[in-house]
Amino acid sequence: MSVEFTGKKACIAPERVFIIGTYDENGVPNAMNAAWGAQSDYDEITLFLAKHKTTENLKHTKAFTVAFATKKDTVEIADYFGVETGNKVNKIEKAGCHVHKSAHVNAPIIEDFPVTLECECVSYSDETGILVGKIIAQQADEAVRTA
Ligand SMILES: Cc1cc2nc3c(=O)[nH]c(=O)nc-3n(C[C@H](O)[C@H](O)[C@H](O)COP(=O)(O)O)c2cc1C
Repeated sequence: MSVEFTGKKACIAPERVFIIGTYDENGVPNAMNAAWGAQSDYDEITLFLAKHKTTENLKHTKAFTVAFATKKDTVEIADYFGVETGNKVNKIEKAGCHVHKSAHVNAPIIEDFPVTLECECVSYSDETGILVGKIIAQQADEAVRTA
C-alpha cells in the first residue's frame, strides 16, 4: 500500500552538486552551487537558477563553466560556494581556489575540481530562471578520466 506524503521535498535522489563558474564584467571569477539542473542533450545543460551574482555575471559574459563537486576533496569548498554570495566577497580568493580562463569560453576553470564543462549561454530568462548552455568543451584530470 502506498501512502501519500505532503510538503516540498527533493524526491529525486541522490542529487549531485554542480559548481557554476562565471566572471563578472571586470573579469573577477565567482562560483555558486546548483543542485537543480541536468544534462539535457549530448551537448546541452539546463539549470534552474534564482537571481544571484552568477546570473548577473552570465548576462555580461554569456558563458559559464560547470564543475562537479567530489565527496573527498572538494565538499567543503563546494558547500561554501552555496552559502555565501559573490556580491559580498570574492569566494574564489577566500576559498583559496586556483582558476584560469577557459580556452573556449569567457568563464573560469576552477582547478580544484576534477571535471569541468565549458559552456556558452544559449538562453537565460530572468523570469523563469532557466539557463540553457551549450557544452563547447569538457576536461577531466587524468586521475578521473576513464575514456
Ligand atoms: C546544496 C545547494 C544547492 C543549491 N542549488 C541551487 C540551485 O539549483 N539554484 C539556485 O538558484 N541556487 C541554488 N543554491 C543557492 C546558491 O548556490 C547560493 O544562493 C549562492 O550563494 C549564490 O552565489 P552567488 O550570489 O555568488 O552567485 C544552492 C545552494 C546549496 C547549498
